[in-house]
Amino acid sequence: MNRIPSSRRSILKGAALAGVTSTGLILPEWALAQTGKIRVGLMLPYSGAFAPLGVAIENGVRMAINEQGGKLGGREIEWFKVDDESDPSKGIENANKLVQRDKVDVLIGTVHSGVQMGIQKVARDSGVLTLIPNAGVHAATRALCAPNVFRTSFSNSQPTLALGEAMVKRGHKKAVWITWKYAAGDEAFEGFKESYTKAGGTIVKELGLPFPNVEFQALLTEIAALKPDAVACFFAGPSGAKFMKDFAAAGLKGKIALYGSGFLTEGVLEAAGPAADGVMTTLHYSDSLDTPRNKTFRLAYAKTFRAQPDVYAVQGYDTGLLLAQGMKAVNGDVNSKPALYKAMETAVIDSPRGKWTMSKSHNPVQDIYLRVAENGENKVIGVAAKALADPGTGCRMG
Ligand code: PHB
Repeated sequence: MNRIPSSRRSILKGAALAGVTSTGLILPEWALAQTGKIRVGLMLPYSGAFAPLGVAIENGVRMAINEQGGKLGGREIEWFKVDDESDPSKGIENANKLVQRDKVDVLIGTVHSGVQMGIQKVARDSGVLTLIPNAGVHAATRALCAPNVFRTSFSNSQPTLALGEAMVKRGHKKAVWITWKYAAGDEAFEGFKESYTKAGGTIVKELGLPFPNVEFQALLTEIAALKPDAVACFFAGPSGAKFMKDFAAAGLKGKIALYGSGFLTEGVLEAAGPAADGVMTTLHYSDSLDTPRNKTFRLAYAKTFRAQPDVYAVQGYDTGLLLAQGMKAVNGDVNSKPALYKAMETAVIDSPRGKWTMSKSHNPVQDIYLRVAENGENKVIGVAAKALADPGTGCRMG
């Protein structure tokens, strides 16, 4: 009969695995792993078309964690960083730099939907806790969702599912859609098409160009010839500012109404200048949300980073909040997976965007705001969709 209590048995097993005797003074590897520094990997774009987005996300993550004392579940943090360049062809390799080479306990990444597919594969294969601070690719919270992957941002069709009806309500019933042709743009179009046609709008043409191309001229000439009531689009980062400026320079501003998935006007209002004024968008955040939470966040961010926060900073901040809540619930023990996941699944995130919760497949259930760009600010006009959830129904590995 085996008289060793099960807790003692597992200690002996752990000691044996670490190659030390039960009388040795050296702690087994698994015990050390829970008391030493927690290894957090950031896989974000620090170069290329989305570089400013990566910086804003990292700022937000660090700010949230610093506000909690700079630790996660009582453990100090060791940071690891990889620049993913928004290059999908290196997605798996870059994720493995963090997971296999650096042996991170937590992976935070990334911005670009194509690169996310590489992270998703590595996350599913390794089981490493992964938080998505931006990329909206549907598969991450639908067909390929995983118990260890949590998104703190949006799914690609969430912002545009609120866009179509707002356009029709403003009398713009004939639209051209234009985007970068990759998962983010294509899935944003899915949301737009559903909401716009349901509200009675007609999409007269879909236009596209490859990411990260910004040669908009020929497409703007085509739009001028089509004479729609409105243009709706998905672009993000500094290229969004270029699109708005080119749209104005082509003589279309004031003649054809310009709408977008709200990323179009995030972080670029200064760069776009007057070309952005009057552009209407839908998104899960607005600079001007009149809540104490948003105001405190904006002041603290501006003071720390000498820059105005945008939606990417908010998403990074919420990533830090969610991670801190999860780690607190398990006292820093990332290997207590059921308890960790449960805490993250049931978390209520008190975000600058408004409070949000996780859907069954780990995507925010959140309000989508209608905004207008005015004098360098994304001003909120109202809530375009209340508590909008992505349709993913749950996360079983199979
Ligand atoms: C994406 O590729 O999923 C993506 C990138 C930038 C955004 C939004 C979505 O602003």
